[in-house]
Formats: sequence, structure tokens, C-alpha cells
Amino acid sequence: MSIRLSSGEEIPIEMHKTRMVQKIRLVPVEERLRAMEEAGYNTFLLKTKDIFLDMLTDSGVNAMSDNQFAGMLNADDAYAGSMTFYEFAKAVEDVLGYKHVMNAHQGRAAEHLIAKVFAKPGGVVPTNYHFTTTKAHIELQGMQVLEIYFDDALKTESSNLFKGNMDPSKLKNIIKKYGKDKIGFVRMEATTNLIGGQPFSMKNLREIRQICNENQLMMVLDGSLLCENAYLIMQREKGYENKTVAEIVKEMCSIPDLYYMSGRKNTSVRGGMIATNNEKLFEQIKPWLPVYEGFITYGGMSMREIGAMSVGVREMVDPGVAGCSVEQIKYFVNKLSKTGIPVVTPPGGLACHLDAMKFLPHVPQSQYPAGALAAALYVASGIRTMERGTVSMDRDKDGKDVFADVELTRIAIPRRVYSVSHIDYAIDRIQWLYKHRSLVKGLKFVSEPPVLRFFFGRLTALDNWGANLRDAYKKEMGNA
Ligand code: F0G
Repeated sequence: MSIRLSSGEEIPIEMHKTRMVQKIRLVPVEERLRAMEEAGYNTFLLKTKDIFLDMLTDSGVNAMSDNQFAGMLNADDAYAGSMTFYEFAKAVEDVLGYKHVMNAHQGRAAEHLIAKVFAKPGGVVPTNYHFTTTKAHIELQGMQVLEIYFDDALKTESSNLFKGNMDPSKLKNIIKKYGKDKIGFVRMEATTNLIGGQPFSMKNLREIRQICNENQLMMVLDGSLLCENAYLIMQREKGYENKTVAEIVKEMCSIPDLYYMSGRKNTSVRGGMIATNNEKLFEQIKPWLPVYEGFITYGGMSMREIGAMSVGVREMVDPGVAGCSVEQIKYFVNKLSKTGIPVVTPPGGLACHLDAMKFLPHVPQSQYPAGALAAALYVASGIRTMERGTVSMDRDKDGKDVFADVELTRIAIPRRVYSVSHIDYAIDRIQWLYKHRSLVKGLKFVSEPPVLRFFFGRLTALDNWGANLRDAYKKEMGNA
């Protein structure tokens, strides 16, 4: 939620209060540089003892509510037939409108099952935009991912309120080109992660559904960021301004054939799910669940997490929950863009994204500007962020880098975790870094794994720029 102050300024307002806290520590800049070097200039390899604000992701790190903790304590532990699962299934039916649901240990496990069961080797999967794990699972099944966003979706600074839309005319052309038998399924992702947390409109979701109907194609919705997309539809789409998030979520979920989500985001627990009203599709996936995840009433999750998830599913459509990070992101992005810092606009529903190619125009894509910016921001602030650019793309068959469409440094906002003063601190240190951006140079890989290299790859700073940045920081700001 946001609230207008008497001065006219609008600020994000927390619709919850803190009842349990975790101490955090801001380590001195000397130690931050040492930690970054030990982590091979890869923020995934930092240890939390060295991190002040952990804005790597909004996944699995959200604050749970008191009622979710109560749901954990009340969980009914059983290998099969747990009543906690049936309570969860009832919550899914009430909130999302699906009669059939199965858990998976997280979102990518759901992706694995869907890609495996509906694989058309040699075929394609059109999507509004890929997510890293989605792409890996689809490609492992011998299919190719085709991204069919509108041309301006990759423009980082834009006034297009629905950059997550799929281009219907491109979808029609793909169907013509490949033939419908070669299309595994059509995938829509809510609050499209890798292009800056940008939503699609309900109108677009319906248009794509219509094309799927005309061609007997299966539509899959990745709802990992479902409620933020619904909240943004409420704020931005004509005809939805008087609807509730709960109503919009129900309407969104009534459109695809198959729904899946990572529960680590919207429901604030560690798990995932696949849900549908199509019994035939459900029965096709079901036999594989015990092979890869677990029995149908736990699907690889602990019953305690399912207990918390059934409460989380009901709570996630509360505007104070669905809108908590959206409003903080809006505040964050607007303050940065007003001072000329290149950020993705309009503000989205996952993170504040810095456009690293504009922030560090002197660093070529072959030297990973988004990775360099994530590392530099950590050294300058103790804030951990994530590279979402070329480091997050694996090499092609010939070992060549595949340049990402956009080089983003993602400053994720976990739900109900950080306060506005934390965000003000981040804004200040980003502004400091922008003034000193010429000190930041590129990165070079030292070692890299063959798949999803961003997780374990190690890099080094070209021309030892880390030390120069540390020295400049120390001189002006002291050791803190
Ligand atoms: N789909 C989307 C849109 C996601 O953002 C994620 C995860 C997944 C699928 C996979 O779910 O992590 O539960 O296996 N996104 C996290 C992130 C990792 O940091 O954005 P998972």
C-alpha cells in the first residue's frame, strides 16, 4: 500500500508490524572488498555474514506472517493423506479457482515436470519472456524457447505499462512457421522477471488465450509473481480500477490450461505447485510426481511448509501483501530516475533494476557490465544484488558468449522485510557509485560451469578496479 502525506508526497506504507527481528551487520568497506574477491566477483558466492541488506532475490526470503507460523505448528505430518494438504488444496480452490493441485519442492521442479510431460522434442515453446530455470528445463527436453514480446519491451526506459505482453501477431507467425504440432505449449509469465518485473495486461492474456483456442494449443501460466501482476493490473488497466486483487487473481487464473508457481515468492514459503481445472492434464503429470518429488499429498515439500503455504495462498491477495514490494519499488525507482540514474521504468513488481549498459557505458558487454555493477554496489554499500545480463546466459555450442538482450543489475525487494530507511540508504549509495562510475571496469571469467554458470562461475576484476573503488570510498565516506 502507499499513503499520501500532507505534503503531497506519496510513500510506501507497511500494512504489518514487526514482531520478530534478525540482527544485521554492516561490515567495513575493507572487508567488503575482501569478501567480494573471495566470492570471485559473483554475488551468489558471498556469505550472509558479510551482507548488510540482502537484495539478491525475493525468493524464499520473505517475512512470513504470524498465522503462517501457526500454520506450520498445526501441520499434520503424514507421508500420505495429510489433512494439511487438503486444507492447502481448499485454499488453492478458493483463491485461484483450481480443483486439482499438486505440490513440487519449488518452481523449477514444477517446470521440470511440465517440460518433461509435454515435451515435443525438436519443437518450440513461445513465451512472453524466458526465466533461466524455465529455459534450461525446456531445452533439456529438446525444445527451443522463442521470446515474442513487443518490440519496445526491452527498452529499459519506457512508458509502456505492460511490457510483459506477448505480441499476438508474432505468435500467429510462429504457428504458421513451425506448425501447431511443433509447439509444446505457449507460456505466459506474470510480472516478467528477466525484463524487469514487468506485467502483462488481462486483455493481452485473453488475446493469447484466443489464439491458443483457435489452434488447440495448451497455455501455461507461470504465476510465481502472480499477485504483483494483479496489483499492477488494478493500478494500470482500464476497467480493473475498482476490482480487488483477489478478483483479478481469480480472473487471471481462469484463463490458462495449466498453472504453476514458485511458492517462494508470493506465498512466502519454500515450495511450489502445479494446478489446473483440466483433469486430463493433471492425470498426465501425476504419475511422475512420486518419481521426482514425492507422494501426491506432499510433492517434495515438508508438511510444515504446506501448512504455511495454505495460509500464504489466502494472504497473498491482500493488497497489503500483494502491493508491499510494488509500492517500495515504485518509491525506489522514482527517486533514482529523478536524479538521472538509469533504472528500468515503469517500476515493476519484483525489484529496482539498474540498466548497467547505461550506468557503465565504458564497460563492453563482453566484460559483463551488470556483473561488475552488482560487485561494485556490494563494495560501496554491503548490499547484495544479482546480475541479470550476459553472465546469466550460458555460452552457445561453439563456446561463445550469448549477449543478453538487457544488462540489468537487480535489486530485489523481499516482501515485508526491509523498511523505507533501508531503501533510502540503497538510493544514497547507488547515487554515490554513479558519481564514481568511471572507477568501475569490467570482469573476466576465471572458471565457469557449463550450465546456469551464474550460480557458481568465478570472475576477476579487470585492472584491479575493486581496490580503486574501495580507496575512493574510504577517502570520502570513511570505513563504514
Ligand atoms: N519462474 C519465475 C518467473 C521465477 O522468477 C522463478 C524463480 C522460477 C520460475 C523458479 O522458481 O526458484 O522456486 O525454483 N525466481 C527466483 C529469482 C530464483 O530470484 O527471481 P524456484
